[in-house]
Amino acid sequence: MSLIEEIQKRRTFAIISHPDAGKTTLTEKFLLFGGAIQTAGAVKSNKIKKSASSDFMEIERQRGISVATSVMAFSYGGKQINILDTPGHKDFAEDTYRTLTAVDSVILVVDCVKGVEEQTERLMEVCRMRNTPVIIFVNKMDREGKDPFDLLDELEEKLNIKVRPLSWPISQGQTFQGVYNLYRKNLNLFKPDKTRIADEVVKISDVNDDSILQFLSEKYVSNLRTETELIEGVYETFKIERYLSGEVAPVFFGSAINNFGIQELLETFLEIAPPPSEREAESRVIHASEPKMTGFVFKIHANLDPNHRDRIAFLRICSGKFERNKFYHHTRLDKNLRFTSPASFIGNDKQVIEEAWPGDVIGLFDSGNFKIGDTMTEGEDLFFKGIPSFSPEIFRELVNRDPFKTKQLEKGVRQLTDEGVAQLFLQQPGNRKIIGTVGELQFDVIRFRLEHEYGASCDFMPLRFFKACWLTSTDKKMLEDFIRVKGTQIGYDKDDHPVFFAESEWALRTNQNAFPALSFHFTSEYKRAGNLT
Ligand code: G4P
Repeated sequence: MSLIEEIQKRRTFAIISHPDAGKTTLTEKFLLFGGAIQTAGAVKSNKIKKSASSDFMEIERQRGISVATSVMAFSYGGKQINILDTPGHKDFAEDTYRTLTAVDSVILVVDCVKGVEEQTERLMEVCRMRNTPVIIFVNKMDREGKDPFDLLDELEEKLNIKVRPLSWPISQGQTFQGVYNLYRKNLNLFKPDKTRIADEVVKISDVNDDSILQFLSEKYVSNLRTETELIEGVYETFKIERYLSGEVAPVFFGSAINNFGIQELLETFLEIAPPPSEREAESRVIHASEPKMTGFVFKIHANLDPNHRDRIAFLRICSGKFERNKFYHHTRLDKNLRFTSPASFIGNDKQVIEEAWPGDVIGLFDSGNFKIGDTMTEGEDLFFKGIPSFSPEIFRELVNRDPFKTKQLEKGVRQLTDEGVAQLFLQQPGNRKIIGTVGELQFDVIRFRLEHEYGASCDFMPLRFFKACWLTSTDKKMLEDFIRVKGTQIGYDKDDHPVFFAESEWALRTNQNAFPALSFHFTSEYKRAGNLT
């Protein structure tokens, strides 16, 4: 098969949701369709139960599961589908944000009872930054939830995106009858059944066609007719280009646990979701169809076995063909590397692969060469854009508890932050280390892993910072003055860029007014982030 055919075949995406909306259930149903698993229950939820948030065994279990389920590849309807898994727990949100840089589109799951939840909003912000095409699946229609029109308004308002229903629910909860597919003009009738496999679809030419009365009572038909008329009047006609540019999100309704509406979602997804296309690097745009291999690392996973220090770096192929045993250029280190056993993941099995294509994600065994964001090429000196770091929300100073293990601590902290467990900022003089995370759990992970993998022990001193802001300035002197004046509130990130630790939103505004030439950014990807002013 040619490179173009391989690209056209691939769909690489992530399923995202607020915890408990049904991401794991939906993933499992997709895998059942693809034949990648045979029985329900085979996909383990990678959620850490709230009650066990500081249980180390639970952390280890999470890490074990997340490597096994990092990428789930299967084929369906002639397409090669790569689902990239994202951790459910909010403390691992940064990991999810990075995974979103490696996908070509997203399916967002929303619980019809709870509507748009906090984590949903944040995840969508990341998708909006990159104009990632999004399909929304409103789940749990077998429950009494919000009114579907209210839900659509809420989606538009909170997620800052236009929506367009492609299917429409006929009642919900106890009286849920099924959905009418506005796109294909067919009726999918609901019977609660956790063991059902495929949708039972009835073709009708139109909701106004009276043959619909064979399947639904008059009351439901009359409501459906009014509501579909309203939809056609209020929402713009679905245009695939508007979906592909990330401006409009098509919406489907269903029930993942009952395998209802999943096939219709999957089939429409395969019809409209984009194959791998182009990616921006710092120097130019790279097209997936370019013959030379390029790719970037978006996730690093440490080996669970402490006797084997190697890690798995997950490389997303962006262009060309990747081949086993061929030398590739690591652009940050300016070094050529060869991989003897690159792995792909099918269901829960890992397999050594001979080749991989754009859109594929492969695991490379790594003895410490990779950091998140690293680019591999066939020699060209380029760096992919778009692996941003987001401002952490919790800050602690790392204090060494065992001076005889300083080297181990330094090494451990460097490696863990390269893996993206947390962000490290250095303060001078004295190399003071500030660790920033989005959740408390990361501090437990760091302490546990420093002890078990590096033999080092540490304490964390709480710091009362509100955000870390990356600094840029149109006036070099003003930036230098600011850095000098702010002293203990300045640190340097992994790329040695200056960062300001603000104590409060108010303090940030005051500083912005006092130093007007400075820009304070909440993500390291300055150009897309926009300023605070
Ligand atoms: P997550 O990965 O997004 O966190 O959610 P997950 O799929 O684990 O689903 C969360 C809970 O919602 C699960 O129940 C699951 O069974 C249930 N669920 C998923 N889809 C539907 C649906 O369409 N209708 C209804 N009524 N429930 C649904 P649980 O009690 O937390 O877990 P379990 O004991 O069922 O595994």
